[in-house]
Amino acid sequence: MNAHNLIDLAELSKEDLDELIQLAGVIMDNPLNYMDDCHGKIIATLFYEPSTRTQMSFQTAMMRLGGRVIGFDNPVNSSVSKGESLKDTIRVISNYTDVIVIRNPYEGSALAASMFSKAPVINAGDGGHLHPTQTLTDIVTLWYEKGRLDHLTIGLCGDIKNGRTVHSLIKTLSKYEGNRFIMISTSQLQAPQYIIDVLEESGCEYSFSNSLEESISELDVLYMTRIQRERFASQEEYEAQKGIYVLDTQKLEKAKESLKILHPLPRVDEITVDVDYDPRAKYFEQAEYGMYARMALIVKMLANNSQKQLPPKIESTHNEMCRNPRCITSTESYLPNLFTTGEDGRLVCSYCEHELEK
Ligand code: NCD
Repeated sequence: MNAHNLIDLAELSKEDLDELIQLAGVIMDNPLNYMDDCHGKIIATLFYEPSTRTQMSFQTAMMRLGGRVIGFDNPVNSSVSKGESLKDTIRVISNYTDVIVIRNPYEGSALAASMFSKAPVINAGDGGHLHPTQTLTDIVTLWYEKGRLDHLTIGLCGDIKNGRTVHSLIKTLSKYEGNRFIMISTSQLQAPQYIIDVLEESGCEYSFSNSLEESISELDVLYMTRIQRERFASQEEYEAQKGIYVLDTQKLEKAKESLKILHPLPRVDEITVDVDYDPRAKYFEQAEYGMYARMALIVKMLANNSQKQLPPKIESTHNEMCRNPRCITSTESYLPNLFTTGEDGRLVCSYCEHELEK
């Protein structure tokens, strides 16, 4: 693996992913062999948004590797509350640390951070966009619990529009042969266009469903998600969506014996607690796999990046600015305007992947 940063897991090759999965397994079997691997190294966890698992699994991963941790989980306690830009915060902290793990409510924030960081940057969730290390966790879980990452029928249920874990998972699993995706949601919470584009380009079969009950019998993997309350414009709109999809033991009667049920957690009400006792439920195991997955990632990234260097300045590719109010460019005005042009001439923002509307 020679990636410097981890912004989008789909940027890694299947060989890189395989290396990480295998290393996670080796560490899982013999964690004490790795207890000094990161001795003398420091990771910074910069969490501008709430987190339990991602933050703590990164922190324990680094501690179990013999390294140390700095950071904040509430930007109010940092100079962010005095109006410091993302650029300046990252520029400074990257002098102190060997890796930066960042979660921020704006889409494209991790990519933006990586432009000003001397240390490698890991995206721990950029708004409703992507969450690559959750996907690494998910594929490590699938590999060790299911035995394969291809030829799977994967049901993704809940908030497909705002769920960054779902976006990253589709981007990554669509690289594997024979996977089929069923996106189970209300019409208001369907996948954003950039995810549909990925599915189209991959050639994977995909479909939409509004009924978990009707789709469940087809699935090899069911990926349940929380309705992302914090991404809704109003409480009213959230209330209208919550509680529609609930996995319970009755629905599970129709599912395959070999089904694996995943959930990135936190769960609100979308899986009833009695499902926890069903052997097909793997979401708590998944949270544990996440720690080993992150240990493997830190080991590989630190092995790669001995030289700390400020990346070269990037110039705007276009004069126009992205108009997505959730894009990091809407708050950090010094960022260059970066777009890629699709085959059909559409301009897509490199930070948030939203199309520039004409
Ligand atoms: C997810 C997230 O933050 O996107 N949680 C996590 O990192 N395990 C899912 C969620 O918050 O619903």
